[in-house]
Amino acid sequence: MKWLVPTLALSILGFGFAPSLQSKSAKDVTIIISGGARGHLSPCGCTSPMSGGFKRLATLVRDLKSKGNVYWIDTGDIIDKPGRQSQMKAETYGELLGKLGVDAVAYTRQDQLQGAGLLAAAVPLTKRDWLSPNAEPGSPTKEELVVGGISVSATGEEAAKIDIERPTDIVLFDGSKSALGSLKKAHRMEVFASEGIPTIDGSKISPGSNLRGVLVATFRDHWLVSVKTVLLESSMKEDAGAEKIYRNYLLRVTQEKLITGVPKDSDADYAGSASCKSCHTNIYNQFLKTKHSTAYRSLVKEGHQADPDCVACHVVGLNSTKGFWYEKTPGLAQVGCESCHGAGREHARNPRVFHLPKVEEKTCVTCHTPSNSPSFVFKSFWKKIKH
Ligand code: HEC
Ligand code: HEC
Ligand code: HEC
Ligand code: HEC
Repeated sequence: MKWLVPTLALSILGFGFAPSLQSKSAKDVTIIISGGARGHLSPCGCTSPMSGGFKRLATLVRDLKSKGNVYWIDTGDIIDKPGRQSQMKAETYGELLGKLGVDAVAYTRQDQLQGAGLLAAAVPLTKRDWLSPNAEPGSPTKEELVVGGISVSATGEEAAKIDIERPTDIVLFDGSKSALGSLKKAHRMEVFASEGIPTIDGSKISPGSNLRGVLVATFRDHWLVSVKTVLLESSMKEDAGAEKIYRNYLLRVTQEKLITGVPKDSDADYAGSASCKSCHTNIYNQFLKTKHSTAYRSLVKEGHQADPDCVACHVVGLNSTKGFWYEKTPGLAQVGCESCHGAGREHARNPRVFHLPKVEEKTCVTCHTPSNSPSFVFKSFWKKIKH
């Protein structure tokens, strides 16, 4: 890779730029590189302060683009699984990219793997050509695009040869390893896919995953003169236009009742917390004071009440045919007694014969995962709800 080496080193270390390069030249082109949304349009609403997400991305892009001579590329990897919800997410993201004036979007192998046609409706919404490493019938087929005078290509292993013959200023790699091996030196900037926050680690540059941040690169006469990561911090404002697009997505998720299509692989028979009240009155009354009892209300407040991404951890027994059913089982619309103790209909009928298993930490952490409950510690959390 051809760098203006001192500049990059300095910018990574945070010392600023070499004096000769410090002032922005008229010819400088700034490129915002986002990507790797992987279906995470919003940060999980579970722990504040929340950072990342589509609405903060919009704020950042609008802000930077208003400065002029700033272009925006999205490296794709928009969805992470097949299905109708992913399709809606792709369309929603596509609409945002289009409204904010994205300049190029890559259609990756990951996106393709989730099922043909899932992104089909998203492509026209972006109002731009898409880059595609392996042109398949029906997929966007551009192998190279020019953005602000900077040429960009996307590549997977199969397409590597093409890129060797026609090196571009930016190459987007559809994976975490360079498919070009030693020949990668022909390129000026390589952008990889990776998990986590955006990273610049030697020549490994990545916008990361789940819309936690972006890369901002500056080119002069086709040379990369600086690149930095910008995190979408919780202090950043959420863009009102993006909020509208996102609300519309949630409305579609709710209207189509996507939650009713979630597969159920159990017949465990749930009775609801109210059925425990008559015999375990004190525990029940104390339970009502905890946030578990209003966990579903938290989703309703945010418009996620029918969102398959959220409901499982905020109700009783979503995975059971005799558990939570959207709009039909108000008694199970909470994290209830049985979310921890297990299905209790038989026990409630005949408590001397049917016993419930002991609850351990491993039950809690099915919901209190590191990403949804980063400060979870069994001892201190149990203390707050002990009975
Ligand atoms: C893997 C389980 C899980 C999933 C999936 C999940 N949540 Fe949560 N959620 C939790 C847990 C656990 C907490 C409590 C976190 C804590 O206090 O440490 C919580 C808390 C919340 C809260 C209360 C936050 C507060 O500050 O009081 C909201 C709102 C919320 N979640 C919304 C959502 C939304 C919206 C989604 C889907 C986008 C979602 N959750 C998906 C487990 C989950
Ligand atoms: C089915 C998923 C689920 C399980 C299992 C679960 N929780 Fe929670 N927990 C949640 C959710 C969701 C919230 C946030 C509710 C809200 O604020 O709306 C929460 C919130 C809490 C809170 C904050 C309560 C308050 O009133 O401030 C504590 C403490 C807690 N959980 C402890 C535990 C412990 C300890 C366990 C295991 C014994 C456990 N949880 C098991 C989903 C779960
Ligand atoms: C008709 C009264 C009654 C109802 C209703 C009832 N329980 Fe119980 N429960 C008992 C009795 C009695 C015991 C003690 C059983 C023993 O020691 O043999 C008990 C014990 C338990 C235990 C300790 C473990 C065990 O099974 O012995 C748990 C946990 C429990 N109940 C949870 C629940 C939950 C959750 C519900 C609601 C789904 C519920 N109970 C409904 C009467 C009831
Ligand atoms: C967040 C998880 C959670 C929720 C919700 C919850 N419990 Fe518990 N419960 C526990 C844990 C953990 C224990 C202590 C370990 C054990 O005994 O299994 C416990 C203990 C108990 C015991 C004593 C068991 C014994 O062997 O002495 C009873 C009875 C009980 N819970 C009933 C209920 C009832 C009724 C509700 C709803 C009103 C409820 N619990 C809600 C986690 C929960």
